[in-house]
Amino acid sequence: PTDVKRICCIGAGYVGGPTMAMIAAKCPDIRVDVCDINQPRIDAWNSDELPVYEPGLDEVVAGARGKNLFFTTAVEESIAAADLIFVSVGTPTKSYGIGAGRAADLCYIESAARMIAENANGPKIIVEKSTIPVRTAEAIRTILAANSENGQFQVLSNPEFLAEGTAVEDLEAPDRILIGGERTPEGDAAVESLVRVYANWVPRERILTTNLWSSELSKLVANAFLAQRISSINAISALCEETGADVDEVARAIGSDSRIGPKFLKASVGFGGSCFQKDILNLVYLCDHFGLPEVAKYWNSVVTMNDWQKERFSTRIVKTLFNTVRGKRIGVLGFAFKKDTNDTRESAAIYVCRDLLLEGANIALYDPKVPVSTIRADLNYVGISDEVIDKQLTICDSAVEATKAAHGVAVLTEWDEFKTLDFDTIYDNMFKPAFVFDGRNILPHDELRAKGFEVYAIGKG
Ligand code: NAD
Ligand code: UDX
Repeated sequence: PTDVKRICCIGAGYVGGPTMAMIAAKCPDIRVDVCDINQPRIDAWNSDELPVYEPGLDEVVAGARGKNLFFTTAVEESIAAADLIFVSVGTPTKSYGIGAGRAADLCYIESAARMIAENANGPKIIVEKSTIPVRTAEAIRTILAANSENGQFQVLSNPEFLAEGTAVEDLEAPDRILIGGERTPEGDAAVESLVRVYANWVPRERILTTNLWSSELSKLVANAFLAQRISSINAISALCEETGADVDEVARAIGSDSRIGPKFLKASVGFGGSCFQKDILNLVYLCDHFGLPEVAKYWNSVVTMNDWQKERFSTRIVKTLFNTVRGKRIGVLGFAFKKDTNDTRESAAIYVCRDLLLEGANIALYDPKVPVSTIRADLNYVGISDEVIDKQLTICDSAVEATKAAHGVAVLTEWDEFKTLDFDTIYDNMFKPAFVFDGRNILPHDELRAKGFEVYAIGKG
């Protein structure tokens, strides 16, 4: 049993929506309001077409929505009624002013804190779900204390470790739940309240409690370590290409060492997603801020290597196609930053497509889940004009269509359906030599070569 009866979550995004849906599904006695200032997003959460695509999410939402799970723009009322308030707003990299390009932009966190202060009418537990720089809880506490007369607040840190595409299974059976709180009797009581919420379905030994700063920092460090593994194997992929080694074989060989482990060693066109780059840059900024330039430089190299990997891939396409792609059609398969999501934030595909469009290529693109409007907006964001998009980009309804009359085909997202395409038809419809650039190492390379394709894969000498 828990003393928490009503939960409010500020921010109905990729984290707030699925996380709260799982809490509601597992805790039928708690009412959960998921709030957002974005009306179309809330409308989508209340419709049959959820704004976030995640395998299994529709069922979890359908099971609880309207019973103890509500999506609403009534942020103020929900705050007032809640005992516990999750803050799950975005914390993007700052694009202006001090720390631009590295520091986290905390404007949404601050606006959420001010909303809580204005509408709180009694004791509240505030939970940082967003990923934030270490010591943000202090800033939240200060804003609350200065702007509210009748609130007693406890601020907790409870970072989210779900990965997109597997959000439901990650939430259902997390490796661990991390809760940081102030080491005082009131802080301990607040931590215990949140522990009891999760204990409805997560074994107690998987619920770790720490001080606030350890919890805040651990989230940045976890993402930095995961991304570092990818940059490490990607760095080795370049060496494999030069030496005749096969990066997948190397990954298997080193990953069998239990000290290294097999996960997150898949070489690729580069990692994407809304978290890795942002959180490493945030960590780098913190290190610099605290006078640790060597530590900052060490972690920054994970991002530098990733940028190089993306650039290396587009350069490889241009070089292979006889140093010119101008006016040539390139079939691009996949635009999402990984399979099983409609999210494209920081997707490697954005940068590869940008480079190819700037080289004058015509891109025929297919992704099973990403809408056209998102693709256009992402390319606009990296400086590609509508005029160039209208002239050089075609969005296709199938992978086979995207490869028609193409000089080259590039796989940028590892969607399962790309593994079993009708490669005979694709070959027949392409210009020869028919080049394939597998940025995810998912295609049957030997089979393709036997059919006549010229195959380039990541890290295959
Ligand atoms: P998102 O952009 O999908 O969602 C954030 C939502 O917050 C938006 O819908 C926005 O309208 C809303 N919002 C902003 N200010 C508001 C306010 N004052 N009141 C109400 N709503 C407000 O972001 P996300 O991907 O869900 O990420 C949220 C946080 O979780 C970030 O800090 C991110 O780093 C972290 N995180 C993300 C992932 C992931 O896989 N996406 C995983 C772990 C942690
Ligand atoms: C990540 C963390 O995994 C998660 O714990 C955190 O909460 C949010 O950030 P996410 O970005 O959703 O999750 O997906 P993830 O599976 O980590 O993949 C990130 C990127 O790395 C993707 O572009 C993926 O394709 C790439 N990747 C992943 C590789 O290139 N190789 C790998 O071995 C693993």
